[in-house]
Amino acid sequence: MPAVDAPSRAADETARFRRLLTSAPWTAAPICEVGRAVLTPALGGVAVLPWRAEALAAGAQGLEVAPDLDALSVPLAGFEQALVHADKSREATLCQLAWLWNRLSPGAHLGLCGGNELGIRTTAERAAALLGAMPELERVKAKARLVRFVRGDQGLAAHQAAASFEGPSVGGAAGGRFRSLPGTFAAGRLDAGSALLWRTVERRVAEAVRPTPGCVLDLACGVGVLGLSALLRWPRARAEFYDADARAVRLCRENAEHLGCAGRARVHWWDAQLEPLPQPPSAAATLVLINPPFHRGKARDLGAAEAIFERLGSLIGAGAEAFIVANYKLPYEAPLARLGKLQTLASEDGFKVLHVAPE
Ligand SMILES: C[S@@+](CC[C@H](N)C(=O)[O-])C[C@H]1O[C@@H](n2cnc3c(N)ncnc32)[C@H](O)[C@@H]1O
Repeated sequence: MPAVDAPSRAADETARFRRLLTSAPWTAAPICEVGRAVLTPALGGVAVLPWRAEALAAGAQGLEVAPDLDALSVPLAGFEQALVHADKSREATLCQLAWLWNRLSPGAHLGLCGGNELGIRTTAERAAALLGAMPELERVKAKARLVRFVRGDQGLAAHQAAASFEGPSVGGAAGGRFRSLPGTFAAGRLDAGSALLWRTVERRVAEAVRPTPGCVLDLACGVGVLGLSALLRWPRARAEFYDADARAVRLCRENAEHLGCAGRARVHWWDAQLEPLPQPPSAAATLVLINPPFHRGKARDLGAAEAIFERLGSLIGAGAEAFIVANYKLPYEAPLARLGKLQTLASEDGFKVLHVAPE
């Protein structure tokens, strides 16, 4: 299964950044390290790891792990050093740097590192402008860059780039408003693929092709657009949401809360490549909605989508039906046709909506 590649790729990346990071001097004191755990094993401290696979691996090594900066249980003021590994979203990286800068004490070191493929040079320039500081140290190695700043006396004005957007219309009326953050999928806008998937579900309802679902599963839910629209559409339905990114999980919970659906929604931090679906609900009258990931970082990678389809098999076998949206060229037909009766229900703007139901 392609999922087997994921840990070895993560190990290669860790080795690459270890070469860069150990070329610089660090204080022999705990560190708050965001995005990867490269220095934490030697220095101690806490690794902030939103991706579940990395968090589980670091936890298994005995490291202290938090899923999210906001979930840190220790005060940052006690740390002499922190390091951010650049996120694929530059804006998310800058938000993390600003968050740390405002909580570290004057004199503490704040590092930023990342690969050239993420445009780290530009991110480092933007960071210097944001923090109003010149790097005290710079290193370049293994097609990656490290810059480090010393926290001055001044904090920053809040740098919070939360963006909310209008979800798809529901039953002909305005839908929900969704909060997102840089780094989560389609931050600040409704994705055209998600919108097409939801329109297709609504059309099937209008044509009375499908019954009202009792239970909705949103696999790879992001901030919850699909499953929460379903809860707004069917006030008696319940929904289970699953995503590997702790930031998406937190936002999905917050969105369920402010849309008044929290009592009918459960959100799981779950990695399709590592775990079976937790507490699978009864598949009777179950509707599964999926906009699968097809990137890891910036690179195309279908491993997570294929793992999600494997998990889907037992749900279809137990009577559920699924709607899956994908870029038109993605080769999902073969794995999905093995699960049940496959149809293409829509094809628009470079996307297709596939439907799988029991034979
Ligand atoms: C294309 S987005 C879809 C988000 C949401 N369903 C929507 O339509 O707006 C794919 C989601 O898959 C999540 N994801 C990536 N890898 C995953 C994995 N291995 N297991 C579970 N979710 C994963 C990402 O965090 C992201 O939120």
